[in-house]
Amino acid sequence: MPILKIARLGHPVLRRRADAVGDPNRPEIQALIRDMVETMHDAEGLGLAAPQVHVPLRLFVWRGTDGIAGVLADPALEPVGDALATAWEGCLSIPGLRGAVTRPARIRYRGLDAAGRTVTGEADGLLARVMQHEMDHLDGVLYPDKLADPALFGFTEELARAAPPRSPDEADAAAEAPR
Ligand code: NI
Repeated sequence: MPILKIARLGHPVLRRRADAVGDPNRPEIQALIRDMVETMHDAEGLGLAAPQVHVPLRLFVWRGTDGIAGVLADPALEPVGDALATAWEGCLSIPGLRGAVTRPARIRYRGLDAAGRTVTGEADGLLARVMQHEMDHLDGVLYPDKLADPALFGFTEELARAAPPRSPDEADAAAEAPR
């Protein structure tokens, strides 16, 4: 299965609203899901949205804690409660940088799995952050659009060198991209 090329910041596919998937059982969608999972693992990402591989569809994958990738097509997310969390995020489409983003700490999600079954659930912590980051990709939104503080944005190497480190609440978390 091929490793897909990842669109980088500046490519218009990252800025448009993606279209509905419809039936994930279509062969081309099944192939896309397989290739996205392989591409995410190859890039050592925690998540990947279809627009990032130049496919403007409402679909994203993430790396599960058990090593099994999660898939959500035509997703809907909503916050659960009022709690917010701030953490570092990176993006495979914006390599080498990271920034601190404030998001709802807990979400409820709904969508279709790879077999086309409706799945619902709640997520918090890193998974909630990854899902919200990937959901933003489906709407043409990138994390630098929502920085908690412009000073908490920069090249990963420079931020690591800074002393004392300027850290948001959960400095250990990073969505999508490894630090
Ligand atoms: Ni991203």
